[in-house]
Amino acid sequence: MRVAVLANLKKNAPTWDGMLSDQWDDLDSEKTIQSLIGALNYGGHEATFLEGDMSLYDHLRALKPDICFNICEGHFGDAREAQVPALLEMLRIPYTGSRVMALALALDKPMTKRILTYHGLPTPPFQVFERLDEPLDPALVFPLFVKPSREGTGMGVMADSIVHDEAEMRAKVQKIFDRYRQPALVERFIDGREVTVGLVGNLVLPVARRLPEDGNASRIGDGLHIFPALEVDMARYPAEEGGIYSNRLKVELAEDFHPICPAPLRPDQVEELNWLTAAVFRVIGCLDVARVDFRLDVLDNDRPYILEVNPLPGLSPGISDLCIEAAADGWSYERLINRILDEALRRFCL
Ligand SMILES: Nc1ncnc2c1ncn2[C@@H]1O[C@H](COP(=O)(O)OP(=O)(O)OP(=O)(O)O)[C@@H](O)[C@H]1O
Ligand SMILES: [Mg+2]
Repeated sequence: MRVAVLANLKKNAPTWDGMLSDQWDDLDSEKTIQSLIGALNYGGHEATFLEGDMSLYDHLRALKPDICFNICEGHFGDAREAQVPALLEMLRIPYTGSRVMALALALDKPMTKRILTYHGLPTPPFQVFERLDEPLDPALVFPLFVKPSREGTGMGVMADSIVHDEAEMRAKVQKIFDRYRQPALVERFIDGREVTVGLVGNLVLPVARRLPEDGNASRIGDGLHIFPALEVDMARYPAEEGGIYSNRLKVELAEDFHPICPAPLRPDQVEELNWLTAAVFRVIGCLDVARVDFRLDVLDNDRPYILEVNPLPGLSPGISDLCIEAAADGWSYERLINRILDEALRRFCL
């Protein structure tokens, strides 16, 4: 098959005077694209990279791919991860991964949390600040955690995200407004282990964006392959990071990564995390691949809390969580990438 690998490369991203130093931290490296192309070629396909910017429309019409392997994070706007998929739908070109609605939704953490809460799935209690003078919900008890509503790669997340009183909280909210020009998400701070669970596959139909009503827990994950959970060993990082998986750890200290995979968890904990991961995949309407981030509350018997879902998880071999999890499961990088493609092909051939 002719496969177009669609991504936004850091080196192709627009630049301007006064841009933020972390502006493009969530974009991809050439190395990742080379790995993806290598894996797809290994799978018998003819893979070509196309930059997911304004040039894409013309390049797609010239290349005429059978399918796109989409990992575009986008550049601008609060639907930036959904823009390329919207274009592909307009052109009627099949593509891997989640579609427009799930991508736009998952980028918006508060909106995602509202849906999780509606379905009774555990996510830290929260409040969104659009203005600095909004009264704090008295149900939210310090310490709290403050982060941007719509960023990834730990952008805006650092030790000062943990706030202990209202003055600290409002100072951090103001920082988010100033730096990221978007609402600040204030959540209960979950002190505890940092765990992430990745998966490939698709739910067996009929699914809809809800949990099954018949209480059949085993059915919820049918069709999904869930990888072993990965724990980030926060104890191995400098204490000044505050035990937080911050932007600095994800970018500057990325080479000094301390994953434990499979995470040391009891079978009942693994079962619960897997159930929650499948439930999130289902209610958000993800397709083909995703990764769900959790914290285990040390104050409540390691009870898992869902922090967010990543429908475009990083795919750098040996570095990204999902790739490490797949490797721990005995999967080669080539197998992982071709499985994601095959899941999409199967959907489009239905
Ligand atoms: N409510 C919370 N309580 C404690 N720690 C939190 C909380 N929310 C976020 N964190 C910390 O901040 C990190 C980044 O948060 P989150 O996963 O929401 O951001 P992200 O930038 O979207 O991450 P990703 O790189 O996975 O896209 C988490 O991995 C965790 O260490
Ligand atoms: Mg995360």
